[in-house]
Amino acid sequence: MIRKNMKTWSALTLVASIATSSFTVLPVQAQDGDQTVHWTREQASKIELNQDNTLPYTDISKLEKFAPGYHVWDTWALTDRDGNIASIKGWKVIFALSAPADVLPGKVHDIATIRYFYSKNGKDWTLGGELFPTGSALGSRQWAGSAMTDDGKIHAFYTATGHKGEERLTYEQRLAMATGEIVADNKGVRFENWGDHRILLEPDGNYYQTKEQAQQGEGGGYAFRDPMWFKDPQSGKEYLLFEGNSGGTVTDRKLQPEYVGSPEYAGQHNVPAGAVHANGNIGIAEVEGGDFSKIKLLPPLLEANYVNEELERPHIVVKDKKYYLFTDSHINKYAEGLSGPEGLYGFVSDSLIGGYQPLNGSGLVLANPPQNPYQAYSWLVLPNLNVVGFAHFGDLGNLSIGDVGNQTPEYQFSHFGGTLAPTVKLSIKGDRTKVENELNPGTIKQ
Ligand code: FRU
Repeated sequence: MIRKNMKTWSALTLVASIATSSFTVLPVQAQDGDQTVHWTREQASKIELNQDNTLPYTDISKLEKFAPGYHVWDTWALTDRDGNIASIKGWKVIFALSAPADVLPGKVHDIATIRYFYSKNGKDWTLGGELFPTGSALGSRQWAGSAMTDDGKIHAFYTATGHKGEERLTYEQRLAMATGEIVADNKGVRFENWGDHRILLEPDGNYYQTKEQAQQGEGGGYAFRDPMWFKDPQSGKEYLLFEGNSGGTVTDRKLQPEYVGSPEYAGQHNVPAGAVHANGNIGIAEVEGGDFSKIKLLPPLLEANYVNEELERPHIVVKDKKYYLFTDSHINKYAEGLSGPEGLYGFVSDSLIGGYQPLNGSGLVLANPPQNPYQAYSWLVLPNLNVVGFAHFGDLGNLSIGDVGNQTPEYQFSHFGGTLAPTVKLSIKGDRTKVENELNPGTIKQ
């Protein structure tokens, strides 16, 4: 299979990357029994909207701009090392990707900047400003990440997209971080004395596809982004989860029975040839001994080969000793022959590595309502099962999201949220989930 053949090649790239950088990436070791779980076509074919997973309609034109003067989208909270929402002298902190409000919705990703907000009650937020001093972060713009505090410091993880100072926008994605000091007083929170920004991980080409591999052959995207801090309460070991794509080029990829499902299902189900372009995966790397200079790339937790092309912002919530692995995906990222909504998807296992079963049979946890299929996106489940997401595009009628960029700027601005969506309250029982109700946008506490 692709992986085995590519081991030598991958070892060479690792040697090259070790020689040119100040951090150490420990090579992926062949594991005894690959524990990567597959989200199968059979499971995804069970996706169905019902009253437990479908969000109420949101009129996004009525939502107040969360950050006046800015669009905001992907949002995350400052946690402690164990993943609990942190309280800094009574302040909670959240972070969001942002861009000035006069930038067209389709262009915001090109100039994304991380800004932060603080709040005493976890509901009403004050904009603190840019997380990093302007121009100090790596990449030509910064995409989603996570942030963890320990001992008065903030460890901020993010995606460095493109390269600093580039004249033409490029799309390489690398996982990056910086550590700073937190200063909090009765007026608010700020961050100071940032250390050097560093690249933690790049795709190895074996388990995780490189940009060069993704560019060979028609179709298929590329992702190596969204680092999410996770500490396993059982072992005490620390990790980063991230969004990736299965390694190799599209011509290396061959349909395997485990991508399809049971023999009974496979017997009656035709896999269209075009499904080969879907190769989303959920990556994991161990931060050995909590030392950010010792990161060990591990085989993916989950792959969606021939099922889905993008498993975004993966994160884990541990509840009743079970690991709930969540991720976001889009309507247009399903492999040919399958379909699913803009939604939050999830899997449950008794252990961090291996054994994941899709929640609710299919994996679908929450979805936009069919009459407003793009109203929200990029959901993140907090430890108390409050789910934060952002308002995306509302009331597009028969337009698909791809058509929005061809409309007038007035149309685009008036149908774009660029602000937080109502927080969703989720409940979980074993492998079943339910949308309970909605709270005001920005509510991270009850
Ligand atoms: C999800 C996402 C993330 C990425 C960001 C870029 O909304 O695609 O995966 O980091 O948006 O803006």
